[in-house]
Amino acid sequence: MNILLLGGGGREHAMSWKISVSPLCTKLFIAPGNAGTALCGENLDINPNDHKAVGRFAAEHAIDMVVVGPEEPLVKGLADYFANRRELKDILFMGPGSAGAQLEGSKAFAKSFMQRHQIPTAAYKTFTCDSIGEGLAFIDSLMPPYVLKADGLAAGKGVVICSTKQEAEETLHEMLCGAMFGEASRTVVIEEFLKGVEMSVFVVTDGITYRMLPSAKDYKRIGEKDTGANTGGMGSVSPVPFANQQLMQRIEQRIIQPTINGLNKEGIPYRGFIFFGLMIVGKDPYVIEYNVRLGDPEAEAILTRLDSDFVALMQFCCQGRLQDYTLELSPRYAVSVMLTSGGYPDQFDKGFEIFHTERASACRLFYAGVQEKEGKLLTSGGRVMAVTSVAATLEDAMALAYDNARIIDFKGKYYRRDIGKDLL
Ligand code: AMP
Ligand code: GLY
Repeated sequence: MNILLLGGGGREHAMSWKISVSPLCTKLFIAPGNAGTALCGENLDINPNDHKAVGRFAAEHAIDMVVVGPEEPLVKGLADYFANRRELKDILFMGPGSAGAQLEGSKAFAKSFMQRHQIPTAAYKTFTCDSIGEGLAFIDSLMPPYVLKADGLAAGKGVVICSTKQEAEETLHEMLCGAMFGEASRTVVIEEFLKGVEMSVFVVTDGITYRMLPSAKDYKRIGEKDTGANTGGMGSVSPVPFANQQLMQRIEQRIIQPTINGLNKEGIPYRGFIFFGLMIVGKDPYVIEYNVRLGDPEAEAILTRLDSDFVALMQFCCQGRLQDYTLELSPRYAVSVMLTSGGYPDQFDKGFEIFHTERASACRLFYAGVQEKEGKLLTSGGRVMAVTSVAATLEDAMALAYDNARIIDFKGKYYRRDIGKDLL
């Protein structure tokens, strides 16, 4: 198969690696890709949100399957664009249409969907600038901390947790009627704060059947012990040791099955990944958010544990015959440590040479913000690379990932030293 993968982060490097090692893959293109995906296939100077350019390339290069890494092309309707064109409609497409992508593209939609299908989630209400008075009254009725969420896509930054009522009131005003998050926060969801432990669960679904990918935990805050600013993700661990059989059964019965049945009942076709961001309160799972893609850096950990063929998994999914696919997972632990540019997630400098990648061993380096120039690797983003190791125990996987995280070097390198520590 000729495969076109969209995206250009660490997740896409991990996906392109898994695609390129499949005997089913003849040729892999990545748009736009990065220095890591260039090791697995051919990068293209095409913007994944430019439907016409993506479609034209796919038609002209006999692409058999399109795989979408990030959410934005899906929310903007790339799958529908393909489905509605004669020359593109027979290409397998991994990712939902814009109707299904609303699970991530609109928090208000996701919340009302969960309510309609009795899927456990935090109590909430939705407001616009016109109903700000009711929003302020709703804040008044809640106990701190307050959770305010921009309805639309806000590059992963649309959630604000306020510790005081005054801060919540000001933030609501800024989101609804001010410039904060622009269009994305014209509608705001205010919800109950859930106290518990977070974990992520990933499934592949063809809309009827689903297959569970490994569970994972990501570390979102910049500082150790989960302190400081939110980031795109500083590391991940898979599997989640506390996710025992009983909990996983509850997650499937109360969350995954009702979600897939709900999509069905509402006539929303869905072929792709669903990422359930969960809060486990006591022994009960609640949905914090849906995403319509794999997580980053969760993908870097979970894909290293996938023993069966990744291309076949997606092919069977796109063809609506996932029931015929046998998923095989490694029982081993994967730990992924993100090396970042000093200063991230605020201001940081880039363009620094990256040293000693050739000395890395017993790990996989998934490049996120890495650029190649005249044979040198240079930092080109806040998150630079995910150093991922797999071992029989969590402790061993952590030790291997950290040995390599120490060896690889660039000016300003920063990484959390406690990825996985809370799970030991
Ligand atoms: P999100 O951008 O939806 O992933 O949210 C960012 C983070 O905010 C999540 O990872 C949680 O840590 C936190 N969060 C979101 N919603 C809630 C909630 N209802 N209660 C507690 N924490 C939350
Ligand atoms: N790691 C969280 C995300 O990909 O949204």
